[in-house]
Parts: sequence; structure tokens; C-alpha cells
Amino acid sequence: MTQFTIFVLLFTCLFTCVPLLFAQENKAVALDKKVKAFLNSHAREWHDWNVPEADARLLYDIIIQNKYTKALEIGTSTGFSSIWIAWALSKTGGKLITIEVDESRYRKAVDNFRKAGLSEYIDARLANAHTLVPGLQGPFDFVFSDADKEWYKNYFDAVAPKLIVGGCYTTHNVSDRMNTGFGLESYVEYLKNLKNFETTFDDRGAGVAISYKKSGK
Ligand SMILES: C[S@@+](CC[C@H](N)C(=O)[O-])C[C@H]1O[C@@H](n2cnc3c(N)ncnc32)[C@H](O)[C@@H]1O
Repeated sequence: MTQFTIFVLLFTCLFTCVPLLFAQENKAVALDKKVKAFLNSHAREWHDWNVPEADARLLYDIIIQNKYTKALEIGTSTGFSSIWIAWALSKTGGKLITIEVDESRYRKAVDNFRKAGLSEYIDARLANAHTLVPGLQGPFDFVFSDADKEWYKNYFDAVAPKLIVGGCYTTHNVSDRMNTGFGLESYVEYLKNLKNFETTFDDRGAGVAISYKKSGK
């Protein structure tokens, strides 16, 4: 390769790669601005059993810290936690599947995702998670379980084999300390006794069980 060819290649790269990098950076900055503006302007509108902001931020931080990209949420409601999860995934290059059985909440969530600028990071499904979840292909590296509490263990058993080692399964309204009123004590014991998961609890919001998968079995 002649010196001239090398120069031409470098020159071409400079004028194609650098603008591309700037474009990506600009897209991320613009998205941050749009999501923050959406969350600020809708701050008082989350009345559909949506998680407290402390819990949403916790999910966001877990995804960013672990660079997760394949997320599943069971229980979308109007999309508050999905927005935080998808916002994190927009930074890791990931995507979220989220499931809701109630059509009006599903429609509101889809509208919220569009307004927040996050639609491309979310595959929102209107379905009964009881039947949809066992058939999902996976693999997943992050799960947030926040639908019907009496089905928590069934969801866990269906998804845990599809969670990669190093992945994280989070469950809402679950605490080691207090009785959350959902009758989830046996579920907590179940999580704590699993040999291939290490579970801790975050009680800053409504209680989140954070279960990291340590090995296949
Ligand atoms: C606690 S809310 C979810 C809140 C949401 N994660 C948020 O923070 O914005 C639980 C939702 O799960 C939905 N749900 C309950 N059972 C379900 C099922 N079998 N399949 C799908 N969604 C279900 C309910 O309709 C409800 O909207």
C-alpha cells in the first residue's frame, strides 16, 4: 500500500467516522433532554400502580452498571418503570420487551413511550403474561417482575432458565424486612434459598428484590 493510499484512507475515515460519532453523541444528548422533559412534565400523572421514582432509578442504575441489553418487564401499566428501563437501554444499546394485559393502560403506555422518544427501545405487548411469558425465547439479562403478585413464582420459574449467568431478576413490592401486605413471604424465602441466585433487597421505595444469577443450576 502506497503512502498516498494510506493518506486517502485516513482522510476518508476522518470525514466519515468522526461525523458519525458526533451524530451518535448528539442523538444521545437530544434523547436525554426529551426523556427528562417528558418525566418532568408528567411527574404528577403516575397513578396506575406505577413504581415510586426511587425504584425506577434503581432499575436504571442496575442496567447501566451491568451494561445489560436484553430486558423483560412483566406489568407495564402506563409505562413509568418501562421508560426508566428503556432510557438505560438506550445507553447500553439494548431493548425491552414489556407486557400488559389491560388495553387502556397498554395504549396509554405506548403513547407515553412515543412522547418520551423511547419507542425504538421498547417492544410493548398487549397480552396475558401467564401465557406469553413461558413462550418467550430469551435469553434475557435483566427482568423486572411487577404484575400479579400471586403469579410471581410462576414468572420466576419460567424466566430464570432464560436469564444469562450474571443477569439480574428484580421483583417489585418485595422486602426482606417488612410485610408488604402482598403475602409474598414464601416467595422471599424461595428466592433466598435458591443456590444459583444471590438475592438482596432495596427498601428505599416500595421494596425491590434484586436476584443475580450466579450459575446455571
Ligand atoms: C403494579 S402495575 C405495573 C406498574 C409499572 N411497572 C410501572 O411502574 O409503571 C401492574 C400491572 O400489571 C398488569 N397485569 C396484571 N396481571 C397481568 C397479567 N397476567 N399479564 C399482563 N399484565 C398483567 C396490571 O394490569 C397492571 O397494569
